[in-house]
Amino acid sequence: MINKTKVLFASAEVAPFAKVGGLGDVSGALPIALNGLESESFDLRIFMPFHARVREYNPPHHLIGSFNFKLTNDTNLQCELYLSQIANTKVYLLDDEYINHNSPVYHGDWRLDGLKYVSFSLLVLEAAKYLDWQPDILHANDWHTALAINALEQHYKKDPFFKNTKTVLSIHNLPFNGWGSQEAMSMLGFYPTTDPDLPDWAKFTPLPMGISATDLVITVSPGYAKEITTPHFGCGIEHYLQKHEYKLMGILNGIDVDSFNPETDASLPYQFSTDRLYERVRNKLELQSQLGLDVGHQHPLITMVSRLTHQKGLDLLLDGLEKIVDQPWQFVLLGTGETEIENRVSHFAKRYPNKIIPILKYDEKFARMLYASGDMFTMPSLYEPCGLSQMIAMRYGNIPVASATGGLRDSIIDYQQQPNEATGFLFTDISADGFASTLSKALELFEDKVIWTQIQRNAMQQDFSWHHSAITYANAYKNLLNR
Ligand code: GLC
Repeated sequence: MINKTKVLFASAEVAPFAKVGGLGDVSGALPIALNGLESESFDLRIFMPFHARVREYNPPHHLIGSFNFKLTNDTNLQCELYLSQIANTKVYLLDDEYINHNSPVYHGDWRLDGLKYVSFSLLVLEAAKYLDWQPDILHANDWHTALAINALEQHYKKDPFFKNTKTVLSIHNLPFNGWGSQEAMSMLGFYPTTDPDLPDWAKFTPLPMGISATDLVITVSPGYAKEITTPHFGCGIEHYLQKHEYKLMGILNGIDVDSFNPETDASLPYQFSTDRLYERVRNKLELQSQLGLDVGHQHPLITMVSRLTHQKGLDLLLDGLEKIVDQPWQFVLLGTGETEIENRVSHFAKRYPNKIIPILKYDEKFARMLYASGDMFTMPSLYEPCGLSQMIAMRYGNIPVASATGGLRDSIIDYQQQPNEATGFLFTDISADGFASTLSKALELFEDKVIWTQIQRNAMQQDFSWHHSAITYANAYKNLLNR
């Protein structure tokens, strides 16, 4: 029997059990793709908190056991370990008094989130020991699980069980670094790292601590790996990242191309493909009539599906739209998020009824309808480690107009740079003006049906499947183990 490479994959969110954003999508897809690689032999298992969300979703699961874990400060943590499954992949659900199954995935209260994820980071290692399952690789994601990597150094250095465990830390979003967990870290026996290359504040902050302790850092796009070494995107640890660039790499995320397939998507009134784009138009007409917009293919339909957070550039978007408000476009936005942004969107829409339609909710089915109906898909992000919706949009022939940053730049071929291969439009001047002028160009081009159809076909033919990324991850794991 071949020895499989054992990978402990720890994440705060895993779709479909509990998803808040892109981290959940990735954690629910990459492991399955890696375990499914025919050319490789991985035994990758997911470890996640047993959130209230997971209990509600209630996947088949059973209790494997419970154990008591003595912390360095002499208190005990009582942990329960359950086993579930997503496709070909085992999922361990961990619970303790801090993970507490009544809590949301993220409290928003830094102290409580700190306790939840700092204890979870310790528990994943204890659970591996309890299972007597020695990981070759510990793969943590974002600040929530980064401290599992530090724990190897701070708590398990002398433990032969983890002697050969190599570590990987994926960064999905650098600004969320776990600041505020300090009290939890002290309580649960962590101490600051002594790494002289980190600024003082970062020595006792989960994500930078994990970055300092890990063997390999993977960002979710190659572009973001470069960007975070600059002051604008580096969140105060750019010098550290510059100096340690040798352990930094980027791998573009994928999307689920079977689920997001316009030829088979059952939630669409009209399915379509590159050679049946006239069917696509019927979705648009239906949507326009549903929403009370002027019906007609000649009216360009601009769409957006997004969490409404600062990162997503909503201010820039609204200011930009206002600059070209006299042009004959329609705009539909779907998403929820920060109350302040939701209010600003609603307020703005009231000024332009029949032109701007905000739908402030989370609605997977309607999102698919927007992907399949829109002519243009806007993503004016201030920064974007990867971004998944631009890839979904392209697969549905909805042409992205996006900031030239991170994963957007890595996944969209810009019309202005490469007109023949173009799959969308990128703007480098990430401001309301930059956005408005690029959107105007796209609107102008929309009038030219030949060119527009070519862009749509190019976009729909891109391969954004996970298979690609999984192979790159597999090679990264192998290089690490052979070091
Ligand atoms: C975060 C990033 C997003 C990325 C996702 C999955 O949500 O903001 O850009 O696509 O993680 O990696």
